[in-house]
Amino acid sequence: MTETFDADWLALREPADHAARSDALVAMLGAALAGRVTGDALRVTDLGSGTGSNLRYLAPRLPTPQHWRLVDHDEGLLQRAAAPGPGVALERRVTDLAADPAAALAGDEPLVTAAALLDLVSEAWLARLLEGCARQGTAVLFALSYDGRIRWSDPQPLDAELEDAVNRHQRSDKGLGPALGPTAASVCAARLEAHGHRVETRASDWRLDAGQAKLGAALIDGWVDAACEVVPDRAAALQAWGESRARALARGEVELVVGHQDVLGLPPAWARG
Ligand SMILES: C[S@@+](CC[C@H](N)C(=O)[O-])C[C@H]1O[C@@H](n2cnc3c(N)ncnc32)[C@H](O)[C@@H]1O
Repeated sequence: MTETFDADWLALREPADHAARSDALVAMLGAALAGRVTGDALRVTDLGSGTGSNLRYLAPRLPTPQHWRLVDHDEGLLQRAAAPGPGVALERRVTDLAADPAAALAGDEPLVTAAALLDLVSEAWLARLLEGCARQGTAVLFALSYDGRIRWSDPQPLDAELEDAVNRHQRSDKGLGPALGPTAASVCAARLEAHGHRVETRASDWRLDAGQAKLGAALIDGWVDAACEVVPDRAAALQAWGESRARALARGEVELVVGHQDVLGLPPAWARG
């Protein structure tokens, strides 16, 4: 089943995404890219780009000029993307990445990136993409893969049941094969290492309090729906849990950490200079 993402949800999560991301990995990437940009501009391909959140985060942190190839199957989301500043050119590609993600690459870009995508894809899909990236010797930066941790500042008995059901739901097919879900970042890091990449992983956790109550409420709603699909006989308890958690978050009585990981892979040739 193909999952769709609405622009309002992507806009709601964008500030939390940007606050969570690892600046350290981007600094390493920027240093590694220095002197390696050939041609007129740094060429970047962003897979599952949505409205361009990854572009808005990364473009100001990387050397200009840049040329971004944004790839997504949702034309409506792509049309909302705009260059975040001077020296950044955009190319939009409406493409279904399901069949062959490597076919969406330009073939000679030094950087392939994605944000909030890898937990949706299968291991076979990821393997095909990373083989393509390794063949062309590109660096990769995959940000914000959910890692399975939903942690509350005041743990309650139902938290673990909800987390477990959500994480089982995360492994279901989202249109790109049986999803890696919480294992995405570790599987990605292991496969990159097998290709000889230098790999760096950093936590990029969302930290939510009353200031992000709207995002928290939407998130909790989504979790409860997902968990109810997995354990329908627990629906009443899970719904009550969700209402109570959303209320407590909005009142500032509780804080929430949602675990994510960023993975940077630098090709072996770059280490050799
Ligand atoms: C969680 S959203 C992340 C969007 C964006 N990277 C961000 O950080 O806001 C996942 C994105 O992957 C896209 N996507 C999902 N399945 C796809 C497929 N089969 N082909 C192309 N894009 C896909 C969705 O349309 C959506 O924009």
